[in-house]
Amino acid sequence: MPRSILFFSLIFFVLGLVPVAQDSAKGDSGFAGSETCKDCHEVYYNKFIKSVHGKKAIPGSPMNKEGCESCHGPGAQHIEKGGGRGVAIFVFNKKESSTTRDSKCLACHENMRGVENWNLSKHKSFLVTCDNCHSIHSAVPGKNYLKAQEPDLCFGCHRNIRAKFNKQSHHPIKEELVGRQALKCSSCHNPMGTFDVKAMLKADSVNDLCYECHAEKRGPYAFEHPPVPENCLICHEAHGSNHSRLLTRKAPLLCESCHDTVGGRHNTDPYTNLHSFLGTATSGKNRFFGRSCLNCHGNIHGSSLSEFFVR
Ligand code: HEC
Ligand code: HEC
Ligand code: HEC
Ligand code: HEC
Ligand code: HEC
Ligand code: HEC
Ligand code: HEC
Ligand code: HEC
Ligand code: HEC
Ligand code: HEC
Repeated sequence: MPRSILFFSLIFFVLGLVPVAQDSAKGDSGFAGSETCKDCHEVYYNKFIKSVHGKKAIPGSPMNKEGCESCHGPGAQHIEKGGGRGVAIFVFNKKESSTTRDSKCLACHENMRGVENWNLSKHKSFLVTCDNCHSIHSAVPGKNYLKAQEPDLCFGCHRNIRAKFNKQSHHPIKEELVGRQALKCSSCHNPMGTFDVKAMLKADSVNDLCYECHAEKRGPYAFEHPPVPENCLICHEAHGSNHSRLLTRKAPLLCESCHDTVGGRHNTDPYTNLHSFLGTATSGKNRFFGRSCLNCHGNIHGSSLSEFFVR
């Protein structure tokens, strides 16, 4: 191509761009600016500028992007038409698919702290949306724009878990702990997803999670009790249980689900109708040792002194 033609085509190309640039400066992008929204939605505006998203000082905040329109999309037409419900503005309701609603938040949050694993989240795969749990304009007081405080937020959809936490032995999510904060569901789960696709646990495995707060159970022990390093949930419930210490069953039944101690160094069979402790073979009294096993095998999670966990 001769040089002169290249030169002129460049000139025409550049000249052609000028009117386009002027148009967008006039607001053809469709964005009107938050100040304009304020005219008719003052309450929303006032709350917005006081919240994290409304802070100029936070880089990447909606305030530093398109303000209200970062989430609601361009609003110029909405205003031209005098505003109104469903008029040329994005609304977070059932008419919009969960993916579309989430995409408004993910435009910024996709790779931000806490939300990186949304694509692996059970909530995402069951079409639970960001705005099911977060409310930008009517959040409860506190951090994170929550629709309700934990655990009530979660109990709203997970009633069976509420029942667990009402059992006699449970992880303390409501009680005041001396000198410490009560646990939250999100102490153990990240509702926005983690690498644990099953239960969104905030650790690589069940045991790693438990060790974060019960470090002494990790050992190392010279004598390990094999089910302990394998999975704490072999013997414990995560949320609540009617047996003390969150146990799945009570001793000795728990122990005897694995140990057949008949013929071992001591017979630990529960007393039954056939072998009663006192009285006749049919009295049915004194079925069990009660705490039995644990009176002697006190270091059930492992020991460095006794291969039988008695010390
Ligand atoms: C001229 C006044 C006016 C302006 C300016 C205005 N709106 Fe509205 N908007 C309305 C009215 C009126 C409604 C209907 C409210 C109602 O029925 O409660 C509305 C409703 C909405 C709704 C809810 C729509 C629905 O279907 O439920 C959203 C979201 C909204 N506006 C966002 C914005 C945003 C963002 C801006 C700034 C870009 C803006 N509005 C500017 C008047 C206005
Ligand atoms: C224009 C970008 C942008 C959009 C869109 C956006 N956010 Fe944010 N959001 C931010 C930034 C930036 C922060 C501050 C992060 C920080 O300080 O670590 C933030 C903080 C938050 C926080 C933490 C608030 C706190 O109290 O610490 C939550 C929760 C949140 N956003 C939820 C949402 C939800 C839900 C949506 C969609 C409805 C959304 N965000 C849309 C940029 C955005
Ligand atoms: C099932 C409920 C639920 C869903 C769905 C949900 N969140 Fe959250 N989100 C929470 C809770 C609860 C917290 C507070 C966790 C805490 O206190 O540590 C939170 C915290 C956050 C934070 C702050 C994280 C931090 O580490 O500071 C951001 C940002 C956030 N959510 C954004 C989103 C976005 C974006 C979506 C959708 C893609 C979403 N959330 C979906 C419940 C949810
Ligand atoms: C971070 C995203 C985000 C920003 C920024 C935002 N909104 Fe919203 N807006 C939402 C979500 C999500 C809803 C759905 C209800 C809720 O979560 O509180 C909503 C709902 C609304 C509604 C409709 C309430 C209804 O009747 O259903 C209006 C009106 C509104 N926003 C106006 C505004 C105005 C005005 C601004 C700026 C001052 C603004 N929003 C900024 C996310 C946002
Ligand atoms: C809007 C309803 C809703 C809310 C609110 C909600 N969830 Fe969920 N959650 C679901 C649905 C639906 C599923 C997938 C189906 C199921 O397992 O029940 C799910 C699944 C889960 C799972 C995985 C369950 C499994 O079977 O593996 C966990 C863990 C979980 N949610 C924790 C939470 C926590 C923690 C909160 C509160 C921060 C919460 N959820 C709030 C609806 C909700
Ligand atoms: C001490 C840590 C911890 C706390 C606190 C906790 N969970 Fe869990 N949760 C777990 C573990 C561990 C599992 C089981 C994971 C597995 O089986 O791999 C689990 C499983 C789940 C499941 C799926 C399996 C089931 O039992 O249905 C749901 C749903 C759930 N949790 C919701 C909640 C909710 C809601 C809260 C708050 C009320 C909460 N969790 C508090 C540790 C915890
Ligand atoms: C975020 C911290 C945390 C995590 C993670 C955690 N726990 Fe706990 N756990 C506690 C607290 C706090 C208590 C209350 C007792 C106390 O004050 O030490 C407790 C108590 C217990 C108890 C005794 C309950 C009773 O009735 O006395 C058992 C058993 C237990 N946890 C097992 C587990 C198991 C198994 C896991 C892993 C699935 C786990 N914990 C994960 C904080 C945690
Ligand atoms: C073989 C069954 C079994 C396994 C597996 C097991 N535990 Fe236990 N755990 C028990 C029994 C039994 C008790 C009650 C001890 C007592 O009452 O003296 C208990 C009590 C506890 C207690 C409360 C009392 C204390 O010793 O602090 C915590 C916390 C605990 N276990 C955490 C864990 C953790 C964390 C794991 C996994 C690393 C785990 N357990 C695995 C059987 C087990
Ligand atoms: C899930 C199965 C399981 C449960 C439940 C269980 N254990 Fe074990 N236990 C084992 C295994 C496997 C060994 C290792 C056996 C071996 O090395 O020969 C072991 C070893 C022992 C040992 C060391 C003796 C030996 O033969 O090495 C004692 C003592 C013991 N368990 C007591 C208990 C008590 C008490 C309970 C109830 C609190 C209990 N166990 C619950 C599986 C279990
Ligand atoms: C009165 C104390 C005591 C009670 C109660 C007790 N044990 Fe033992 N157990 C021991 C001692 C001590 C040893 C080691 C034996 C030895 O050194 O010869 C032992 C050894 C064991 C062993 C390993 C040897 C074998 O027999 O296989 C197992 C398994 C065991 N106990 C399980 C249990 C279970 C399960 C219970 C409850 C049903 C229980 N023990 C109750 C003191 C007790």
